[in-house]
Amino acid sequence: MSKSFLDQFADRLIAWHQRDGRHGLPWQGHRDPYAVWVSEIMLQQTQVATVLERYPRFMKRFPTVKKLAAVNIDEVLAEWAGLGYYSRARNLHACAKQVVEEFDGHFPKDPLLLEKLKGIGRSTAGAIAAFAFEEHAPILDANVKRILARLFAIDKALQEKAVTDELWALAKRLLPKSAKSMPTYTQALMDFGATWCTARKPVCISGQQRCPFEKNCQANLNDQVLLLPKKISKAKSPEFICNMVLLRHGDFVLLQKRPPKAIWGGLWSLPESEWIARQPVNLKLSHSPSKTSSLNLLTTVLTGENVKDLFKQCSPLLHKEEIRHVFTHRRLWMQIWESHSQERYCFVDPTLQWIDLRKLGQYGLPQPIKLLLQGLSLARDVGTKS
Ligand code: ADE
Repeated sequence: MSKSFLDQFADRLIAWHQRDGRHGLPWQGHRDPYAVWVSEIMLQQTQVATVLERYPRFMKRFPTVKKLAAVNIDEVLAEWAGLGYYSRARNLHACAKQVVEEFDGHFPKDPLLLEKLKGIGRSTAGAIAAFAFEEHAPILDANVKRILARLFAIDKALQEKAVTDELWALAKRLLPKSAKSMPTYTQALMDFGATWCTARKPVCISGQQRCPFEKNCQANLNDQVLLLPKKISKAKSPEFICNMVLLRHGDFVLLQKRPPKAIWGGLWSLPESEWIARQPVNLKLSHSPSKTSSLNLLTTVLTGENVKDLFKQCSPLLHKEEIRHVFTHRRLWMQIWESHSQERYCFVDPTLQWIDLRKLGQYGLPQPIKLLLQGLSLARDVGTKS
C-alpha cells in the first residue's frame, strides 16, 4: 500500500463521513467522558435503534458517574433490563465505583489507564479517549477489523495474536495527524464499518462505484471482498434444557435472585433446576405430571427447602409453556411449570422471595422472564375489569 494512501486515509474517511456518515445521534458531540463511556458500553452489543431509546433514559436516571456509583446494583440492572449482556450493567456499576474511588470521579484520559477499568477493553478505551479527550488512540472492534482486513487483503485468521498485533499497528498508522480530528475520525470509522463496508452487503459489490477506497482496497481489486475477513467455522452452540417453576399466590410470584457470576447474574428469575444437555429426543414430563413427578420437579427447583410442606399447599403443576432463549454460546429451552400456592410460604433460602407483580418494574429481570410475567400482570388487569 502506498505511503500517500496511508497518509490520506483519515482525511478521505472524514470527507466521506461529512457526506454519508451518521450525524445527530444523542451521544455524539459530547465531550463528557461519563456520557461517552455509557454510550460506548451500551452500543457494544445493542442496535443503534434500541440505544436511541434507552440511552437518554439511562442518562436521566444516572446523570453523573457519582450518582451511578452511589446506587444499588439492583437499580442499575433494572434500568438495563431488556438490553441483554447484563455483565455490562454490572461492570458499569463497578467501573463507576472505581472512577469515584480511584480517580476522584474523573475518568482518566490515558487509554492505558482506561483499559484497567472494569468492562473497558482496549478498543473501547481508545474510543473513549478519542471521543472525550481527543487522544491519538486507535480503535479496533469487529467492524474496523473487517475494514482493515479488506483494505490490506489480510487473509489470515484475525484471531491469531500476530495478526491482531498487525491490525493494531495499521489502526494506529491510519490515525489523523491532528488531535482535533480524532472524535470525527473515530466516529467515521465506526459508521463506515457499520453502514458501508458491511459484512454481507458492502457498498462496493453494488457496482455503483461509490466507495471512496475502491481503487485502493486490495480485497476489492482482487475480487475478494466477500471472502475477507476469513470466516472461521464456528461449532454449533450447545443446547440445554431446564425446568422452571412459576409459583403464584394472588398477585405475588416467587422469584429467585441469581448468583452474581452466573448467566443473568444478579437478576431476578424463576427458580430453576440444573441445566442438562438437550438430547435430540429429551424425555419430557407429561403436561400434567403425576403427584410424584411434580414433587420431584419441585425438589430439583427448590433445593434445600422443605418441599413436602410447600407441595401440600400447591395446586397441581401444569406445563405453561416452553421458552427458547439464545445466549452467545449456548441455547436454552426453559420448561415453565405453573402452580398456585394457598399461602405465601416462608422459604429458608433468602434469595427466594415473593414479589408483587405490580412492582416488577423495580427489579432487574431476564427479558424472556419479564415478558412472561408481564403477560400475567396483563391477564390480572383484564380479569379485574371484567
Ligand atoms: N458502536 C460503538 N460505538 C458507536 C458509536 N459511537 N456510534 C455508533 N455505533 C457505535
